[in-house]
Amino acid sequence: MADKKIIAVLGATGAQGGGMARAILADPAGGFAVRALTRDINSSKARELAKMGAEVVAADVDNVESLKKAFDGAYGAYCVTFFWQHFSPEKEMAEVQAMAAAAKSAGLQHVVWSTLEDTRKWVPLSDNRMPTLQGKYKVPHFDGKGESNHFFTDAGVPTTFLLTSMYWDNFLNPGMAPKKGPDGKLSITLPTGDKKLAGIAVEDIGKCAYGIFKRGQEFVGKTVGISGEHLTGAQMAATLTEVLGQEIRFNSVPPDVYRAFGFPGADDLGNMFQFYRDFDEYFCGVRDPAFARSLNPALQDFRAWLMQHKSAIPLGQTAAGA
Ligand SMILES: NC(=O)c1ccc[n+]([C@@H]2O[C@H](COP(=O)([O-])OP(=O)(O)OC[C@H]3O[C@@H](n4cnc5c(N)ncnc54)[C@H](OP(=O)(O)O)[C@@H]3O)[C@@H](O)[C@H]2O)c1
Repeated sequence: MADKKIIAVLGATGAQGGGMARAILADPAGGFAVRALTRDINSSKARELAKMGAEVVAADVDNVESLKKAFDGAYGAYCVTFFWQHFSPEKEMAEVQAMAAAAKSAGLQHVVWSTLEDTRKWVPLSDNRMPTLQGKYKVPHFDGKGESNHFFTDAGVPTTFLLTSMYWDNFLNPGMAPKKGPDGKLSITLPTGDKKLAGIAVEDIGKCAYGIFKRGQEFVGKTVGISGEHLTGAQMAATLTEVLGQEIRFNSVPPDVYRAFGFPGADDLGNMFQFYRDFDEYFCGVRDPAFARSLNPALQDFRAWLMQHKSAIPLGQTAAGA
């Protein structure tokens, strides 16, 4: 352990950080060790990581001193924020500021920051194609991350800015899983028309981030995008149909309809999917699966991900209004 480079992993008990931690733990000869950060070192997920060989350390992103302690002595950190726990870009920005300050204080040599675009650079607030949300954002859970990038740069922290993609694992949640319509047929619903979406198996985000750490300083100061495959809604529906063995249709709706679905964050996600749709060439262009595969040779495409998770996709739900 002593001669290994320690990576402090935020969100290690969650999806992205969990993938990061497991990627390092699966490669004991790789020269890296995991320090899993959690608010509760006694949770079952934290204990499981400890059993797998991670050092488990208490930290809370809302407490900069706890972050400084947790980063101390580490070589690098995987930084991720938790927008959907609070829906506040301001809170997210304050948390990134704390991460950058702690990384600087600990003298980290490499941070991989899981960020997204500040969509207002493409869709200024004056652009009425989508509503402005929370007073000053177009896609709040993207914009706060993009706006936060400068905290790392300003602090002089050697950082790789990692642009992630939509997790296919969202299909495991009843909200995005195929649902029955009024005709009793199953469909997935997205406001993306015939445009391709960059998607990824969440486990691969951590594996790609590990690939970035393994490449030393090559990507420090750079923005890199990753995805597992680019697919239209119709193509995803066709693969779902084939792998699940029952017809799944693609139900394309206008973004306004999606935003009005009424679940918490529907407006934010409606704007996000519209951004995916309206800037598809840019969005997919910076998230090249071939590049992601160069970081992570085991990168899954949608079919491979689906084969592994098909039994966990909930199919019984009825769409609202059906
Ligand atoms: N869903 C998608 O398709 C998608 C795609 C791209 C990016 N994203 C972004 O991914 C981010 C979420 O990452 P995720 O999916 O990995 O999250 P997640 O699976 O919900 O994991 C959340 C983890 O964060 C930890 N956590 C929560 N609050 C914390 C705090 N105050 N201090 C320290 N740790 C805290 C929790 O650990 P403990 O309880 O153990 O402390 C938990 O395990 C969001 O910002 C979202 O915008 C999502």
